[in-house]
Amino acid sequence: MNMTPDRWMKTCDYLDDVFNDADAHLQNLMPRAIEAGVPNIAVSSSVGRLLHMMTKTVGAKTIVEVGTLAGYSGTWMARALPDHGMLITIEPESLHADISQRGFDEDGLTDRVRIVRETGLVAFPKLIEEMGEGSVDLVFLDAIKHEYPDYLPHAKKLLRSGGLLIADNAIGSTEWSVVNPAGSHPNRDGVDRFNRLIADDADFDGCCVPIREGVLMARKR
Ligand SMILES: C[S@@+](CC[C@H](N)C(=O)[O-])C[C@H]1O[C@@H](n2cnc3c(N)ncnc32)[C@H](O)[C@@H]1O
Repeated sequence: MNMTPDRWMKTCDYLDDVFNDADAHLQNLMPRAIEAGVPNIAVSSSVGRLLHMMTKTVGAKTIVEVGTLAGYSGTWMARALPDHGMLITIEPESLHADISQRGFDEDGLTDRVRIVRETGLVAFPKLIEEMGEGSVDLVFLDAIKHEYPDYLPHAKKLLRSGGLLIADNAIGSTEWSVVNPAGSHPNRDGVDRFNRLIADDADFDGCCVPIREGVLMARKR
């Protein structure tokens, strides 16, 4: 199939349109947040739907997300949790954390979501200490892309055997792509390294779903 960048984006828009946001809360969440000053960098509805499905598929009860923004991806995942399930989502920006907390409350998810107001690299070791190794069913990475290789050892420790690591932007963003030359962007280099670390890690079965900016999925053996 001949897939020009324009055709690719139109295809992704088509998928977002057909497999749309589930309801008004999700549809309004990002427009409202953007009006309040949050950047327009949430996952697409197709990726949100994928996160929802994968949460259910692995029967996740405990999820750790790095990069909450306004809680769009978090809402998709938290809604898929069973009663007493918990999404722990890490977000150092107080505007983002405040807005996402409001959204989670409005959606009836207060008891299922805890926002950790720290950076990923500060929060991860504390969560490992608090929750224990092998205690998490799903880890979703969507914060600082060039830090992905640094998140990996922490995520691996947290995940149980059979747990799922998911990372957004595994093939690029509007500003960079993994197929650009090495050294062209720190995020390109960080994500390229991360992808290769997963591919070479005997403890993971990994692949990349190339919707939107690429979603890496790796199951811990
Ligand atoms: C791409 S957005 C997350 C989008 C969100 N997952 C969604 O799809 O709805 C990245 C978020 O990471 C946050 N962030 C920035 N630096 C961070 C860090 N060092 N650790 C964790 N999160 C960080 C940003 O404030 C931003 O809200």
